[in-house]
Amino acid sequence: MTITEFAKQLAIDAGALIQQQSHRNFNVEEKTSKYDLVTEVDKMCEDFIKEKIAQAYPSHQVIGEESIEELDNLSLLENSDQYLWIIDPIDGTTNFVHGLPGYTVSIALMYQKEFVLGVVYEPHLQELFWAEKGKGAYCHNKQLTVTETDDIEKSLLSTGFPSDIEHARKKVIEGINQIGLRSNNIRSFGSAALHLAYVGAGRLEGYWEYGLNIWDVAAGYLIVKEAGGKVTDISGEPFTTRTKDILASNGKIHDSFYRSLNERSSNE
Ligand code: IPD
Ligand code: CA
Repeated sequence: MTITEFAKQLAIDAGALIQQQSHRNFNVEEKTSKYDLVTEVDKMCEDFIKEKIAQAYPSHQVIGEESIEELDNLSLLENSDQYLWIIDPIDGTTNFVHGLPGYTVSIALMYQKEFVLGVVYEPHLQELFWAEKGKGAYCHNKQLTVTETDDIEKSLLSTGFPSDIEHARKKVIEGINQIGLRSNNIRSFGSAALHLAYVGAGRLEGYWEYGLNIWDVAAGYLIVKEAGGKVTDISGEPFTTRTKDILASNGKIHDSFYRSLNERSSNE
């Protein structure tokens, strides 16, 4: 089994585990605030993924959202020359807690500080989005390409509502005020990874959000790139493992998308 096949099967198995657990009464806790939830299923799923990676690839390093405190910091992202997995066992925990679809399993792999593999699995529709560096992006076996739309007024955009309400969520809402009347429309599905996969799949022209973490976006980043799209930080600077505020698009609307969001700041 190739490492890509391994990662795809792992995301599917993790998704099945989440679905099984969704039918019982699971414990929900607040993480950094009441807007930031975690369930015992997030932790169970992360343990499952980490265990499978450790069995198959004992020398590989792993960064997981729910065990980040086990690491001194995120310096592995800049320093590791080896294989480094970046996982979010449930991206869209708020959806999961509320019995809504749209949450995903997000699994990415870096090698020598480059993203080489990204898998996003949406268990309700059982859609498996994945990309391998230099080999394209796919939904199952179908190759993905971003849309050709070059007009922001014809673009369906998306965003999310981060748990940091004072800064990040406020900026999202300001952005909606700015771009809501200029774009075709706006959607919010509740998972950053899913928004990025949908940009790659040509279902959305763009996605922006503030205050994210690398595990939310690592896999989706590669899917957008390999589908021919563009991902930068919100100021148009290159995407890095430290990017918190993200702008992803089909590439053709990127500049006008960027300008529309940033014009707001110059009017403040
Ligand atoms: C969240 C989701 C959500 C986004 C939040 C993220 P989590 O991740 O990606 O769509 O709006 O900013 O924190 O906490 O469910 O893994
Ligand atoms: Ca999560």
